[in-house]
Amino acid sequence: MIDTSIKVSEYQARRKKVLSALKGSVGVVFAGDGAPPLRGEWFPNFDFKYLTGIGNEPGAAVIFDPTNPDPKRRIMLLLKPVNPEMDVWDGYRDLVTEKLRKETGFESIFRTNFLPRLLGEAAKRAKHMTCLHPLSTYTQPVSPDLEIFQQLSARIPGSTIADQSKLLTELRMVKTPAEIKHIRSAIKATAEGIDRVLRATKPGINERQLHNTLVSGFTDMGAKTVAFDPIVGSGVRSTILHYKENDQSTSDGDLMVLDCGAEINGYASDITRTIPINGKFSKRQKEVYEVVLKAQKASIAAVKPGATMTQVDAAARKVIKDAGYGDYFLHSIGHHMGLETHDPGDNSAKLKPGMVVTIEPGIYIYDEAIGIRIEDDILVTKDGRQNLSSSIPKTVKEIEDAMKKRAK
Ligand code: GLY
Ligand code: MN
Ligand code: MN
Repeated sequence: MIDTSIKVSEYQARRKKVLSALKGSVGVVFAGDGAPPLRGEWFPNFDFKYLTGIGNEPGAAVIFDPTNPDPKRRIMLLLKPVNPEMDVWDGYRDLVTEKLRKETGFESIFRTNFLPRLLGEAAKRAKHMTCLHPLSTYTQPVSPDLEIFQQLSARIPGSTIADQSKLLTELRMVKTPAEIKHIRSAIKATAEGIDRVLRATKPGINERQLHNTLVSGFTDMGAKTVAFDPIVGSGVRSTILHYKENDQSTSDGDLMVLDCGAEINGYASDITRTIPINGKFSKRQKEVYEVVLKAQKASIAAVKPGATMTQVDAAARKVIKDAGYGDYFLHSIGHHMGLETHDPGDNSAKLKPGMVVTIEPGIYIYDEAIGIRIEDDILVTKDGRQNLSSSIPKTVKEIEDAMKKRAK
């Protein structure tokens, strides 16, 4: 039930940080609900996953009740009741026993039928509730905790609702050593997949074959799945930012963008390399490639504690603009990465040691069928940065040399 690749004590420490940040106020984090999509796995809200490691309990919730007189009930896990008739379809679920309490690190576990009572008692006592879920825009449903708190506040005179909806993002942005270890493993698996593609690529091969080669590298290295659907786009499709079909035949003389990441122990990686289908960049392709590489290096060098992603973005953008390609760099420089490929993060926030961000400038010239993106995963360190994906061939020479190893 719980992802044991991170120690229970680490999940407990994460929850304690939230409890103390609430300063006596009530909070609740929901896992989300619903059946798994027909062609996929059910995923919890990642803030819930971050706090519990639990990935297969739709409808679950964590209640923070800091003023509860019983210290064991200040953090509670609520799980949907066991339903033997549903278990036949969805898998057998645990009863609430000492074993489950030990496995999850929660001293108090209740069934979700008790949610209204437990939340109501907590709110009546504290008279103060705090939103932890991200606030929604007005076109979206009200966030689930705020919706309940509004109902509670209508029933509890003098109660107030506060906003700490950025707290979990702030906690998740700084990775622990255990999280960084998993990210490194995910990157290693991605490197294997890319290496296999470098060796398999040749004119005429279908993008789908290369997609499958890529994913086999991930799974052979222990990845359960991909962090996101890979982009394997050759020719003009290299200029399509969210190309997903990956089903066209490749052609001599074209470039191919490979944007991919394995997921290991729930943690993502996200790497892009752009390679020549025939193993050798043309003069023109090389010219544009060198601009993107220079821009990427400039942005990587700008990653350090205290800098913002906005400043990091500006470093690459300047290089690309100065080279005359300003209109062809359409997206932002990158994003935080962790449990999610696009982890929540604030581009105006100062970078801190332990954060992991992607740096991924690109130039996309549709008329020339030249799409080039280079993406690495960068750990912010005390002194600056470490490129976690630096072993993957990246310069023109490194890529061409790696492709020379192809079977003839
Ligand atoms: N593949 C999505 C990204 O690079 O952000
Ligand atoms: Mn990517
Ligand atoms: Mn990315």
